[in-house]
Amino acid sequence: MAQEDILAIVMAAGKGTRMKSNKSKLVHKIYGKEIIKRAIENVKNAGIDEVIAVVGYQKEQIEEVLGDSVKYAIQEEQLGTGHAVMKASKFLENKSGKVLILNGDHPIMRPETLKNLVSVSKERNESATILTMVHDKTIPYGKIIHDENGNIKEIIEHKDCNAEQINIKEVNLGMYCFDIKELLSALKELKNDNMQEEYYLTDVIKIMYNKGLKTGSVVVSDNTEVLGVNDRMDLQVLTKALQLRINTEHLKNGVTIEDINNTYIYDDVKIGMDTIIHPNTTIKSDVIIGEECEIGPNAYIREKCRLANKVKVGSFVEIKNAIIGEGTKVPHLSYMGDCEIGAKSNIGCGTITCNYDGFNKSKTIIGEHSFIGSNTNLVAPVTLGKNTFVAAGSTITDDVPDDSLAIARERQVNKEGWNKK
Ligand code: UD1
Ligand code: MG
Repeated sequence: MAQEDILAIVMAAGKGTRMKSNKSKLVHKIYGKEIIKRAIENVKNAGIDEVIAVVGYQKEQIEEVLGDSVKYAIQEEQLGTGHAVMKASKFLENKSGKVLILNGDHPIMRPETLKNLVSVSKERNESATILTMVHDKTIPYGKIIHDENGNIKEIIEHKDCNAEQINIKEVNLGMYCFDIKELLSALKELKNDNMQEEYYLTDVIKIMYNKGLKTGSVVVSDNTEVLGVNDRMDLQVLTKALQLRINTEHLKNGVTIEDINNTYIYDDVKIGMDTIIHPNTTIKSDVIIGEECEIGPNAYIREKCRLANKVKVGSFVEIKNAIIGEGTKVPHLSYMGDCEIGAKSNIGCGTITCNYDGFNKSKTIIGEHSFIGSNTNLVAPVTLGKNTFVAAGSTITDDVPDDSLAIARERQVNKEGWNKK
C-alpha cells in the first residue's frame, strides 16, 4: 500500500569507475535485471510511489531502463552524493515530512527494510535516520560515529578515516530517511573540503548534529541484503546472495532443490510442491511450474513457460514460451520453443521446434497422448492432433490429423556387398 507524505530520491548519476566497463555500473544486471531497476522496484515495493532518480553519467542508458517509472533530476557533473541530492532538491521545495534517499547501487534490499527505516525515523522523531550494518571485516564504507547518547555525530568516509576510525565496525549503507525541511537547510551548508573534493551527502549529518537535531541509526539484521555494487566481485557476491534467498524461498514452499549453489532461479518464478530440481538448471523470470515435476539436470527453462503437474523436462532441454500439459515428458536434448503440448505426451530425444525462419516466430501445437519419435524437426507453424505418432527422424512440415502416424524421411536403401567391391 502506498505510504502518504513520503517520496524517494535514488542517486544514479555516478561513474562507477571500479566496474571497469563501458556501460554505466547501474545497468549491469543481476539475474537478468538491471541494478538500478532492482533498486527502484524495491523502493516502490516499500510503498513509495513518487521516486526521483538523479542521473548524469551515461544517463541515456539509465533512462532507457527506467522509462517513465520515475521522475528525473539531472546532475551534469558528478561532484558527489550531496551534490546529487542538491540537484533533486527542487522536488522537495514546498514539501514537508520525510524523504527516503538511497544509493542506486544497492540492488537487493528488502522493501521491508526500507519501510522499517521510515517508520523508525518517524517514531523516534529524528531529523536523519541512517541505515547501517555492523560488519566484522573492514569494508570501505563510511564509518558511523555516535555520541554518548546514541546520536550520530558524523559519518567519516573510508578514505578520510585516520588509523583508529578505520576500524569502526558500524558503517553507512547509503540509505537515509531525512526530514525534508532540515535536509534542505543543511544542504546549503555542505562543503567539499575532503580527500575526494566531493560534496558528501554524509556531511549533512554533522551539520544537523551540530544544530542539536536528532540523528540515529537503524542496524540491519541481514548483512547480505544491503551490500552495494562497486566492482565485479561485488556483483558476484550479490548474485550469490540473491540466489540463496530465492532458492531458500522455494525450499520453504516444498520444492526439492538438489544443489542450491548450482541452481539458478530468477525472480517471479512459481514452483509447485514436490517438484524436484536437479543441478545446473536455470529457470528465468515469468515461469510457472506445477507440482511433482522433475526438472534437469542441465535444463534451461526460459520466459513464459507454463508447466502443468507431473511434467518432466530433462537433461539438455531448452524450452521457451512453452505450455506443457500434465504428465508430459521432454526427457532429453530438445529445444521446444513457442509451443503448446497437451497432456501425457512424450517428446523424443533430440526433438526440435523450428520456430524461427529468420523473420518471424511461429507456433507448434501438439495434442495430448502424442508420441514424437527421436530426432524430429517440427517446422512451425504446424499442428499435430491428439494421439499422433511421429516416426523418428522425421521433418514435419504439414499438419498431422488426430490418431495418425506421420513419417517424413527418406527410406533406407541397403546396397548389399557394396563395401567389398
Ligand atoms: C557512499 C557513501 C558511503 C557509504 C557507501 C555505501 C557518500 C559520500 N558516501 O560511498 O558513506 O558507505 O556509499 O555504498 O555518500 N552518485 C551520484 N552522483 C555523484 C556521486 C555518486 O549520483 O556525484 C551515486 C552513484 O551513482 C551511486 C551512489 O550515488 O549510485 C553512491 O555513489 P558511490 O560513488 O558508489 O559512493 P561510495 O563511494 O560507495
Ligand atoms: Mg557505492
